[in-house]
Amino acid sequence: MKHLFKQGKADKPVLLLLHGTGGTEEDLLPIAEMIDREASVLSVRGQISEQGMPRFFKRLREGVFDEEDLVYRTEELFEFLKWAAKEYDFDRNNIIAIGYSNGANMAGSLLFHYEDVLKGAVLFHPMVPIRSVTLPNMTQLPIFIGAGTNDPICKPEETTELKGLLEEAGAEVYMYWESYGHRLTEAEVSESKKWYTSKY
Ligand code: MLT
Repeated sequence: MKHLFKQGKADKPVLLLLHGTGGTEEDLLPIAEMIDREASVLSVRGQISEQGMPRFFKRLREGVFDEEDLVYRTEELFEFLKWAAKEYDFDRNNIIAIGYSNGANMAGSLLFHYEDVLKGAVLFHPMVPIRSVTLPNMTQLPIFIGAGTNDPICKPEETTELKGLLEEAGAEVYMYWESYGHRLTEAEVSESKKWYTSKY
């Protein structure tokens, strides 16, 4: 998978960056820098090209996912994380995902499919990635969700549904609402930094 890795301090987590549709592995670098400039960074480019726009999995149309591809791509990323931990010599159990939009949905899908895959997650404007799976145990897993009360793509009802599913699985979800539609705002990133600093 196309990616970049930046070595940080050994005792810090590895931030797994997952961009939104049409983004690249460079997009979330400033956000990782704001959240924890000492952490290592593993930033991945989505394998799918939708009319030239990178994404992490196929969709049938806006908001309707190709579930077969989602499952396949989730496993591919899961295997990639194992490979990357060996290649870059970091602890596989020390990964915190930071994803926006399609990247947040991919981070959500990792959580939905694999137990202990992440040590935490910052999900900016996520949806419910898939409804046909039983979630693994996520007892006390810290998750930050940033969402928009007027987000036309990741609707607030769906974000609330996602929060409920994660909490049912045991996760500790912190929710932060904005009202700037699907945009990722500076206030949202600052709030996620506060949350991150209190947890790690
Ligand atoms: C998705 O396809 O993952 C969501 O609709 C968000 C996006 O537009 O990327």
